[in-house]
This record gives sequence, structure tokens and C-alpha cells, in this order.
Amino acid sequence: MQRQKADVYVKQRTQPKSLNKQASIQDDHVTAAPSGYVARSAFKLLQLDDRYKFLRPGRVIVDLGAAPGGWSQAIVERTRSRTAGKVFALDLLPVVGIEGVTSIQGDFLDVETQERLRRMAADAALGSVDENDADKQSEGFVDVVVSDMMANTTGNPITDTEASLELCRAATDFALRTLKRDHHLLQSQERKSPISLASKSSVLVMKYFMSHEADSFRKQVLKKHFHFVKAEKMEASRKESREQFWICIGFKGRQSM
Ligand SMILES: C[S@@+](CC[C@H](N)C(=O)[O-])C[C@H]1O[C@@H](n2cnc3c(N)ncnc32)[C@H](O)[C@@H]1O
Repeated sequence: MQRQKADVYVKQRTQPKSLNKQASIQDDHVTAAPSGYVARSAFKLLQLDDRYKFLRPGRVIVDLGAAPGGWSQAIVERTRSRTAGKVFALDLLPVVGIEGVTSIQGDFLDVETQERLRRMAADAALGSVDENDADKQSEGFVDVVVSDMMANTTGNPITDTEASLELCRAATDFALRTLKRDHHLLQSQERKSPISLASKSSVLVMKYFMSHEADSFRKQVLKKHFHFVKAEKMEASRKESREQFWICIGFKGRQSM
């Protein structure tokens, strides 16, 4: 309670125009907030976007681990996307109603739930897609995948790290099947700052717990599939937390592993 009261980001939450229902979800990092972002974690995404500017109008964005809805609120604000079919949110728990966000409640680790989300985004981005219309989907149809997913922590660092990495693996696999390929990133452009590319390239953002295994995953999987991969510790993350965010920019297409 003391920490929550003193937290500058909890104090800073202001009324976003995108919120059209009062939050009613009980969660220890959320205080039902008729006047503000429904979660202080919204500031982490906003800070990351201040740096990289990947939340642009018109982009198709998938928000994983979205409840109660702070990141989705931030996405709608930054992209000014109030019409359905651009922003998709998924969580085990309900996401608050946000104008312009299509949400699914379910376990992302469940293959059928993930497939439902993938088809929903494909249909919205490409028009109704036939089951076998591989060509239409092969170049990808999602611009940005963000994941703030985190299983309930047990206090055991090995268990918590593995649980976090399992969610990152699943989010990466989904991103590799849905993100648009960035053929336009030619050799010369690749040497440019990732900041100048994030607004027009595919982007994957994921929360993870720092560990040796996470670092191996970054080197063996993320760096293989993306032109730029960077680990960021956000100012809005609590100082004592081991959480960081990977931002991966410019999707090369699925590579053989
Ligand atoms: C830190 S919270 C996300 C906060 C959210 N980004 C916001 O701004 O409101 C982490 C979320 O991950 C979700 N989560 C954990 N495991 C999941 C899974 N297997 N499938 C879907 N969501 C999951 C939890 O239910 C929880 O809501």
C-alpha cells in the first residue's frame, strides 16, 4: 500500500479518452480507476513508444496479456484508432471495454485460442481469409505484437523465469506467423538507427525476466529473426524488478532453426 501510494506513475494516471467503461477488475496492481489508465504499466509502453515511435496510426496491433487494459488504452491513444479491426487484445482475464479494441478472453498457451486470435486479425487486415489461402497470409498482416504477459509469480526465481520465458517463446512463435515481412530493409537502411525504422517496420515487444536462459533465447531466436533486438529497462518499471523489455525491429521472415 505504501509503495502504491508513493508511486509517481500511480499518481500520474489521467483520464484517457479511449476508456468507455469503468474498470471493475480486482487485481493487486490495479485500483479500479474511474479517472485514469487502468494499470500503471501503461507508462512503460508509452515510454518505450516515446523512444521508438512504433505506435503509429493505421497499424494492426496485437496486445498479449492485455488485462486490465492499460497498454490497450495507450495503443488506442497513440494510434488514434477508434474503429474496430486494428487493435486486438488477449488475456486470461477480461479486458475493460475500450473503443476500437477487439478483445478475446483465453489462455494464449492454448493452441485454439491463439488460432482464434490469429484468424480474427487476418480477417480484419486482409478481408475474409479462406482456410487454405496461404499466399494471402504468407507475407504477414500484423504490424506490431506487444506482450506484457506474466504468469503469477511464485517467488522461486527459476520457476518464475521459466514461466516468463515460456510466454515469450509462445509470443515469438505467434509473431513469426503473423508479422509483416520487412523486405524493404536493405543493407544500407539496416545500418540506420533502429529508431528511424520502428515506425515503418514490424515490431515485437516482450516483457521478460533477466536470466542466462533469456539471453540465450535473445541470441538464438530473436536476433536470427529480427534486424534489431534491444533490451530496455523502463523508467516506469519498479527499481527492484528483474523485468525488462525486448524490442525487436524489422522482421526478416521465419528462418530455419
Ligand atoms: C502485468 S499484467 C498485464 C497488464 C497490462 N499490460 C495492462 O497494461 O493493463 C500481465 C497479464 O498477463 C496475463 N497472462 C499471463 N499468462 C497468460 C496466458 N497464458 N494467456 C493470456 N494472458 C496471460 C495475466 O492474466 C495478466 O493480466
